[in-house]
Amino acid sequence: MDIGIDRLGFYVPKKYIDLVELANKRNVDPNKFTIGIGQSKQAVPDLYQDAVTMAAESADQVLNDDNRKDIGLVIVGTESSVDESKAAATYLVELLNLPEEVRAFEIKEACYGATAGLQMAYNFVAMNPDKKALVIASDIARYGVNTPGEVTQGAGSVAMLVSENPHILKLNNKSVYMTRNVGDFWRPTFSKTAFARGKYSNEVYVDFFKTLWKKFQDKYDVTADDFSTMLFHIPYTKMGMKALRTLEGNIPDDKYNELSDHYQASIEISRNVGNLYTGSLYLGLISYLINGDVKPNEQISLFSYGSGAVGEIYSAEIQPDYTGFLNIDFIKKELSDRQKISISDYEDIFGKEVKNGDVTVLSDVHDKYYLSEIKENERLYKKLK
Ligand code: COA
Repeated sequence: MDIGIDRLGFYVPKKYIDLVELANKRNVDPNKFTIGIGQSKQAVPDLYQDAVTMAAESADQVLNDDNRKDIGLVIVGTESSVDESKAAATYLVELLNLPEEVRAFEIKEACYGATAGLQMAYNFVAMNPDKKALVIASDIARYGVNTPGEVTQGAGSVAMLVSENPHILKLNNKSVYMTRNVGDFWRPTFSKTAFARGKYSNEVYVDFFKTLWKKFQDKYDVTADDFSTMLFHIPYTKMGMKALRTLEGNIPDDKYNELSDHYQASIEISRNVGNLYTGSLYLGLISYLINGDVKPNEQISLFSYGSGAVGEIYSAEIQPDYTGFLNIDFIKKELSDRQKISISDYEDIFGKEVKNGDVTVLSDVHDKYYLSEIKENERLYKKLK
């Protein structure tokens, strides 16, 4: 049975900052941000937005009256959860008008959460071929104003509808994974911003890639020649490049050049949005599907990494008619219609927090789903009529 991603949705906040302007404000050479880190723009979510509202926005794009009733599993992968107890997925069942007969929950393991969800969804559909699963990656990456990690912030959400006979990506059920207790990045429950040993995180990430890529080749008797594209977890676009570069000189030059070209297509959107945390790998997939010279039935590998740390490499096959199931024009328009805000406006938004008793003013809302108020310490959400 063929199982995989049938539809993909992507949500990006409507505001962004220009990283050259950020560099100037922080007295840093702009080339460090645009070349050294590899980022150009960074999404800035509004105060009425969080992991729940952004998840609803991307999921809304993959649902219709036909497939809604078949959803049996809803998983939100996030590391910017709004509640220590209640899962973001439970809000979505109401906001998205999903059937009550679903399993809905949240998965946390840094940027690996959505991949854990996707593999679980694969198993769910294998056992229940008449059902579909909704897996959503939704995050706001926050390191703090004037911190080394600031340039690697971002926000957004990717939704994946997983089903039998998928139209976008068939998962090959070939995968290798590993876990090590590593202190490269974490966010304690008391903190709104992450703590990172950034350079150490790079080292662990590259080491995980090298270890898993060797395991994958040994387990399935394949080489780089069996893939025309390798997708990576891309919290910032230079990071995936560091992993890809470990292949240079170890595989034929032609193959390395092909993989590098395809990598460039896969980072185009991330460069202009920033860090989606667990959605980053899947934004890379969307970017490649939109910007790459994609061949029918192309074989790809995907490297997922979540600090802490869990890593996985799995393989998949791009389906020939995927363009009908990914709203390319819509995504391009959402990206191009965004509004640039000043660095001081971003700092102002970053420093604010919605508190108990606050009610969102409707005229401030520029999205479909929003946090309407916090009442008796409970977050309440609404959809614009
Ligand atoms: N022009 C071009 N490149 C420049 C430059 C300039 N003027 N100045 C610096 N650079 C390059 C550096 O050579 C370096 O490249 P390299 O990584 O290939 O060696 C890169 O820019 C970053 O410079 P660096 O001095 O290492 O930056 P930093 O100390 O500010 O830290 C991060 C950068 C990425 C480590 C930091 O932003 C961070 O910690 N981010 C969080 C990342 C993280 O932990 N993610 C975990 C999730 S997987």
